[in-house]
Amino acid sequence: MTADLFESVGDARPARETMAEGAVVLRGFARPFEVELIPALRTIVKQAPFRHLITPGGHRMSVAMTNCGSLGWVSDPSGYRYDGIDPNSGHPWPAMPPVLRAIAATAAAEAGFAGFAPEACLINRYVPGAKLSLHQDKDELDFAAPIVSVSLGLPAIFLFGGLKRSDTPRRYRLEHGDVVVWGGPSRLFFHGVAPLADGEHGIFGRQRINLTFRKVR
Ligand code: SIN
Ligand code: FE2
Repeated sequence: MTADLFESVGDARPARETMAEGAVVLRGFARPFEVELIPALRTIVKQAPFRHLITPGGHRMSVAMTNCGSLGWVSDPSGYRYDGIDPNSGHPWPAMPPVLRAIAATAAAEAGFAGFAPEACLINRYVPGAKLSLHQDKDELDFAAPIVSVSLGLPAIFLFGGLKRSDTPRRYRLEHGDVVVWGGPSRLFFHGVAPLADGEHGIFGRQRINLTFRKVR
């Protein structure tokens, strides 16, 4: 009876939720890194401000993006690619701070992918209404490494489908500090983010920030 009582008072969200083979949500995994992570992000965004990229189809993305690391993901009317240079400044992207490397590597290891050393961290900024359509992360040359995704600020509904665009995605609510890792058999699964609901987060205000770490080559 005591055990039942204690079970019912705890956080209702399990610490770890398997989404598919090779894919897991690690609830609150980034929280212990927060004190170092937030000032590190501020520094990056000062050097390489968020911008709305244009897709090859000519659409302006509702999500604003920037990068850190030796490579950054960019989109323009000529296509998607990884580039060492920020096209807005003509300079290399800000370096990936040790705290970001540490989160990515420890989360990947926790999910069963030891030795994860990403070159790129794409930083996405969602304001209420912003969304990311279903897509595969396939601009990397190395699909043996997983994708590690860190959610900060307002909660979002993450859509996680399958290998086919037509596979109906499952919906996962991702909150501040949650980390998702997908690799192995689910490395190329379609995923996206539903339009962000309005709200106010204690640290990030009216926005969601997402970091995705990628081993590009
Ligand atoms: C992405 O697919 O690149 C970002 C996913 C997210 O914002 O949770
Ligand atoms: Fe993605």
